[in-house]
Amino acid sequence: MTETSAEAQDEARVEEFRSYVQNGGKVEATDWMPVEYRQSLIRFIEMHANSELMGVLPERDWIMRAPTIQRKLALTAKIQDEAGHAELLYRLVEDLGKTRNACLDDLVAGKGKFHNTFHYTTKTWADTGMIAWLVDAAAIVSQHALRDSSYAPYARTMQKICWEESFHMMHGRDIVITLMNGTAMQRAMAQEALDRWWPTLMVFHGPNTPAEKDRDLQWHIKAKVNEELRQEFLNAQVPRLREVGLIIPDPQLRYDTEHERWLYSEPDWTTLRAIAHNQGPASEERIGFRRMTYEEGQWVRDLMAYSMAQRQQHTTTGHVPLKEEVHE
Ligand SMILES: [Fe+2]
Ligand SMILES: [Fe+2]
Repeated sequence: MTETSAEAQDEARVEEFRSYVQNGGKVEATDWMPVEYRQSLIRFIEMHANSELMGVLPERDWIMRAPTIQRKLALTAKIQDEAGHAELLYRLVEDLGKTRNACLDDLVAGKGKFHNTFHYTTKTWADTGMIAWLVDAAAIVSQHALRDSSYAPYARTMQKICWEESFHMMHGRDIVITLMNGTAMQRAMAQEALDRWWPTLMVFHGPNTPAEKDRDLQWHIKAKVNEELRQEFLNAQVPRLREVGLIIPDPQLRYDTEHERWLYSEPDWTTLRAIAHNQGPASEERIGFRRMTYEEGQWVRDLMAYSMAQRQQHTTTGHVPLKEEVHE
């Protein structure tokens, strides 16, 4: 076969694959897939995993400052869930050919990407409520759509993650409702937190990229365009925010009944682009903290690697290491 005919055959196979996924076909980790599809999956899922892992840091800062023992427990449980989500997702990336360690090395070197929301600082206790309610609500909209992803292991993982995210949203909403039913100072604290978080929520799902230009949509890695996700988020959360007495800080926000869509002020895409390059207000601090904890945990990874090597040796040679040998 000539080089040209081999290339044509490869192209035909890629096209066949593309039409398969676009028509709802599902792909398993062991199936053949085009290089471009595999790379897109790695990039997309790795960023998702990094976001789950980095997303615990703004909330972690509030564990010791949570007002009651119940709030501390709930916040700690949520953080634990998010770290678990990261772990599940890194394993998916590993199946696709990039190791968990390689992902973490890139993340702590500042080369890995994570969601824009987690590049911002937190200021008051109300931030934990806004993050758990609204950031998780925005994430749920995206993650619900991912249950229809062409990559079946990702879609299955989303089933578990979505269930837990819904619970996080209720936990956040409960914090905000408690504040809104409290003193004037508590209500002001909740409103001030919403004022700061709203612009980040409006860029959460990304720019209004048309479907034909969205590569992830073309591969059916994700199933909905960004604007559709933003509209779903607004549909669900605007009435709920108003119901508890909060004022959404966008005078142009209104529902256009004729076109059945929300209208809003143009979000700040320039800031979003800077954050995509790790230039957010807390990017350096968060990556630095993750780097420190990663380095501090090196001894655990070394010990586990040593233990696995010992077990391997035992399996192949039948030699059981003495305690003294293990300690050396
Ligand atoms: Fe999560
Ligand atoms: Fe969550």
